[in-house]
Amino acid sequence: MKIAVIGGTGLIGSQVVEILNASGHEAVPHSTSTGLDLLSGQGLPEALAGVDVVVNLTNSPTFDDASPAFFEKTMDNLLTAAGAAGVGHAVILSIVGVDRVPGLDYYRAKVLQEDVLKAGPVPYSIVRATQFFEFVDAVLSWTSDENAVRLPATPVQPIASADVARAVADVSVGAPLQGTRDVAGPEVFTLDELGRITLAARGDRRTVVTDSTAGMFAAVPGDVLIAGDDAVIAATTYRDWLAR
Ligand SMILES: NC(=O)c1ccc[n+]([C@@H]2O[C@H](COP(=O)([O-])OP(=O)(O)OC[C@H]3O[C@@H](n4cnc5c(N)ncnc54)[C@H](OP(=O)(O)O)[C@@H]3O)[C@@H](O)[C@H]2O)c1
Repeated sequence: MKIAVIGGTGLIGSQVVEILNASGHEAVPHSTSTGLDLLSGQGLPEALAGVDVVVNLTNSPTFDDASPAFFEKTMDNLLTAAGAAGVGHAVILSIVGVDRVPGLDYYRAKVLQEDVLKAGPVPYSIVRATQFFEFVDAVLSWTSDENAVRLPATPVQPIASADVARAVADVSVGAPLQGTRDVAGPEVFTLDELGRITLAARGDRRTVVTDSTAGMFAAVPGDVLIAGDDAVIAATTYRDWLAR
């Protein structure tokens, strides 16, 4: 299959390109650094010519109230061009529980991206993943100083980006789901506990203070970030990933 991976230079996109090409498909990465701008549409018709599947793994430059406009406009541009090029399958990567956190701009943005895809002219699949292991350091940095990291006790079920990329690649070469597949890591932690495990593994002597108001995930109610019974559960554990 000929597959265009938009955002193919990013954390997930670059791994998806590698997996697809290693299994005999022709996957081509596209992004701003290769000359394709999904916001303006520049380079899209050329990237989608003769393509069977398009995978959209772009990310917004910010997680704030500018992110809804980014995901709406880029998804819209992609579907218009994909429809015109006769692309048979469009795939995006979203977030488990994303539609149950209306208070977060970035989650609202991802719901908008899903809705534009569902209403568009191209058969589609949505993969929803939980938080990436690689994202934990960024989460810690948002609410830390030289002595402490403040984190809420929000339950999370994080996953290795390599396992996410495998799930996205599998869905991309299958029939369009016309729906959603959830993927998640094998263990549930509270975010403050995940912070303590991370600092200990790195020999970082700062303490984690449990703070129900700290950071973006403080806005997440209950266990909405935990995958349901129908999710695909990945094998890599957080401690194995930390020790790799
Ligand atoms: N972080 C998490 O825990 C998590 C969980 C579930 C789902 N997700 C979703 O996973 C997706 C991929 O995330 P990631 O971490 O792999 O992202 P990333 O590493 O930040 O990569 C983003 C990619 O998007 C490209 N890009 C940005 N703006 C663009 C534009 N205007 N036109 C074309 N390409 C553009 C970048 O290209 P250049 O570098 O060339 O500019 C890069 O290839 C995101 O949609 C995110 O919402 C994330």
